[in-house]
Amino acid sequence: MVPELEKATVRIQQPERVMGIIRSIKEQGMNKLQVISDFDMTLSRFGCNGRRCPTSHNILDNSHVISEDSKKKLKDLLHYYYPIEIDPNRSLEEKRPLMVEWWTRAHELLTQQKIQKGDIAQIVRESDVMLRDGFNELFDQLHKYNVPLFIFSAGVGDIVEEIICQANVFYSNVNVVSNYMDFDDNGVLTHFKGPLIHTYNKNNSILQGTEYFQQLSTRTSIILLGDSMGDVTMADGIPSVENILKIGFLNDKVEERRGKYLDAYDIVLESDETLDVVNGILRYIL
Ligand code: C5P
Ligand code: MG
Repeated sequence: MVPELEKATVRIQQPERVMGIIRSIKEQGMNKLQVISDFDMTLSRFGCNGRRCPTSHNILDNSHVISEDSKKKLKDLLHYYYPIEIDPNRSLEEKRPLMVEWWTRAHELLTQQKIQKGDIAQIVRESDVMLRDGFNELFDQLHKYNVPLFIFSAGVGDIVEEIICQANVFYSNVNVVSNYMDFDDNGVLTHFKGPLIHTYNKNNSILQGTEYFQQLSTRTSIILLGDSMGDVTMADGIPSVENILKIGFLNDKVEERRGKYLDAYDIVLESDETLDVVNGILRYIL
């Protein structure tokens, strides 16, 4: 059915159930399908040749517009909070306030840097960000078949959009909900617009009242792509979901987190920097 599911990176707890979901999505047809995806470390790569690739926040943190002192502070925050973010032994309740703390402190530091709106394109161009192999096929196919792609990101929206623009795939079927920067009349960053989106509030608390999913209420089949345990809830609260296939990229601390990921996601992709499996499933469905 989908040869890519034989890849060594693929783990599935309930193969029959997964095949059933994929078959029903195909039966319902592409007119019923929508894709909901995380951005950082899901559509973008986690690593390349043994080196970590940046998140949308890291792209700003490491850029030439940030002072050396603030760079160090932002790195310290990352080294303190990231292990908490991915710790399989802490509950989401315990993590949530700490994530708010991380994002708030980072956004405060970034806001002190007088970042110019006009610098963003260059900042992205000079970064080491990479989209996962196969991103062209994914975006092109979804666009060709008019399948809405909703990118739900706790990263920095302006950076995410610029990455997609520079990759020439910011098509009309793509929508991004994320943390956006606000600039004054001179184009200087003044603050981040709310509501704050962090790893563990990606759910209907953010999406409530948005017209987007009301308009898509006939799109009852969902493919969800994520890399964090917080991404699993991205489709919660969406009306009339009939089939949902959750695909999770397990990038870091693979052994420690495998069990939790297998329980949360229908398909787990371990240290797989490609979109092969997603594209294979779409090729079968579309
Ligand atoms: O879930 P999503 O991929 O949208 O979240 C953004 C990622 O950005 C988080 O997984 C987190 O590790 C990372 N991050 C960061 N710097 C921050 C805040 C979050 O790199 N200041
Ligand atoms: Mg992510």
